[in-house]
Amino acid sequence: MKPVGPIPAGYESLAGELAIGGMRASELVAAAGRTPLFVYSRAHLNARIAQLRAALPAQVGINYAVKANPHLAVIGHLAPLVDGFDIASSGELGLCLKAGIDPARISFAGPGKRDEELEAAIAAGVTLNCESLGEGRRALAIGQRLGKAPRIAIRVNPSFELKGSGMKMGGGAKPFGVDADKVPELARELIAHGAEWRGLHIFTGSQALSADAIIEAQGNVLDLAARLTEAIGHGCPKLNMGGGFGIPYFPGDEPLDLDRVGAALIARLEHLPAVLADSELCLELGRYLVGEAGVYLCRVVDRKESHGVVYLVTDGGLHHQLAASGNFGTVVRRNYPSAIATLYGAEPTEEVNIVGCLCTPLDRLADNAIMPRADVGDLVAVFCAGAYGASASPSAFLGHGPAAELLV
Ligand SMILES: Cc1ncc(COP(=O)(O)O)c(C=O)c1O
Repeated sequence: MKPVGPIPAGYESLAGELAIGGMRASELVAAAGRTPLFVYSRAHLNARIAQLRAALPAQVGINYAVKANPHLAVIGHLAPLVDGFDIASSGELGLCLKAGIDPARISFAGPGKRDEELEAAIAAGVTLNCESLGEGRRALAIGQRLGKAPRIAIRVNPSFELKGSGMKMGGGAKPFGVDADKVPELARELIAHGAEWRGLHIFTGSQALSADAIIEAQGNVLDLAARLTEAIGHGCPKLNMGGGFGIPYFPGDEPLDLDRVGAALIARLEHLPAVLADSELCLELGRYLVGEAGVYLCRVVDRKESHGVVYLVTDGGLHHQLAASGNFGTVVRRNYPSAIATLYGAEPTEEVNIVGCLCTPLDRLADNAIMPRADVGDLVAVFCAGAYGASASPSAFLGHGPAAELLV
């Protein structure tokens, strides 16, 4: 037996089925017209933003990192709830503009921005988080050609990292950002050549569950931003402090103590270095906003036994849920939170392997999990599917195509 991860709060049983947004899993599938299906819950998105607003200092804005879930309806729902949007491509820029987001609320980070992407961002008035000297110079040249001053912040590659994070984005040689010691000179060059100076972006890592690690990283970010701003000598209109807030995916994971992070930041901001006194501050959060708001539903298409092991073969799999399958940067495969959605709350009675429909042994959704007895036609739910699911999985693999997506 292998346990599954903790099911996020707020998912109830209705008439024996998992319910999301007041609709049963089978009703959701009927509404979407097919499986596999990602369902995103407005109530969960709203609740998460409310928790953040209650815990964080009022002067710290919340930006949404669109890469976590670029579904247009999700972006549109978050538009009035968050302060800014961080994008990683001109494709994400297009989605934000389609959702009606004011380009002044958008910033663009990413180590390989093409000239066309720089041009689209500069023309729209989006802030570029500049990742290198070369990129900064290209942006200046494009701005000159367009007759428009590019709005530029510098993404800093700090010498520290977010401890315990799943993905480290700072500390040592990195393709991301500009090494901290080179930032003042670059900033002065960009400003001297007509850029509209927007400040600093310091992203240190992601998927951290330790409040202590996040508190330490935020302190380091503020100290570094103050030192760099002194050295640049032009103020820091905006400081994007990064994010890294994680969510529990696996057995034993404890949720981040958000109140402690918020209280520490409030205390810290009371002693903010004078050079940052007029800076607008924000955090950049992806999975923390949307991860627990999403559920992936797929249908059992076969039930079979091999050498005494029961397999529930679904029409879903790693082509939509690469992370849950264990193939997205994990060393040891562990089970995401999962359940039989059409038998939600029923007594677990048997050990099963829930697999996808791809002919590779990598395509696993739950190993040796204890579930109620499910049969062909039942629906499987994989939770924590709101971030890095649909858009971060190889949906073209074996020709199965993308899953449906529904915001309820
Ligand atoms: C620059 C940047 N912003 C935002 C994120 C989103 O991280 P998460 O979804 O864990 O909040 C990442 C993830 O690696 C990132 O590199």
